[in-house]
Amino acid sequence: GGPVELDLSKVAPGQQVVLRWRTRPVFVTHRTPEAVQKLKDPALLSLLADPQSSELQQPTYVQNWHRSIKPEFGVVIGICTHLGCIPLYEPDPNATSPAANWPGGYFCPCHGSKYDLAGRVYHGVPAPYNLPVPPHHFPSDTMLRVG
Ligand code: FES
Repeated sequence: GGPVELDLSKVAPGQQVVLRWRTRPVFVTHRTPEAVQKLKDPALLSLLADPQSSELQQPTYVQNWHRSIKPEFGVVIGICTHLGCIPLYEPDPNATSPAANWPGGYFCPCHGSKYDLAGRVYHGVPAPYNLPVPPHHFPSDTMLRVG
């Protein structure tokens, strides 16, 4: 398949849309201002195995603290880097969250790997790498193109 597009004006803050690109799920998240702020939180960064994504090739245009082109939109491939399950989107810190003091992110139900909302993997889980970022760009203010 070729590139896939998404009209971002239809994605509310806090919402995630899953695209399918080359048979793979791509998680597109509209981050709230609070979620964007959290990506810089030292308490969160201390939980991450590779906050700079130095272990994983990714497009140069996402080599920044928010791991995306626009801080308010995240785009990652939704396949756990352990054994390929689909991680669950768990953006809210709440009582039903998968871990104590859960700050919001992705949780893999297969073997418990945890990622933050930028797809950065936690220390001490089976997954070895951050969720990859697929090639993408914004042809206009409201349009995302993956691929
Ligand atoms: Fe996700 Fe194993 S496949 S933790």
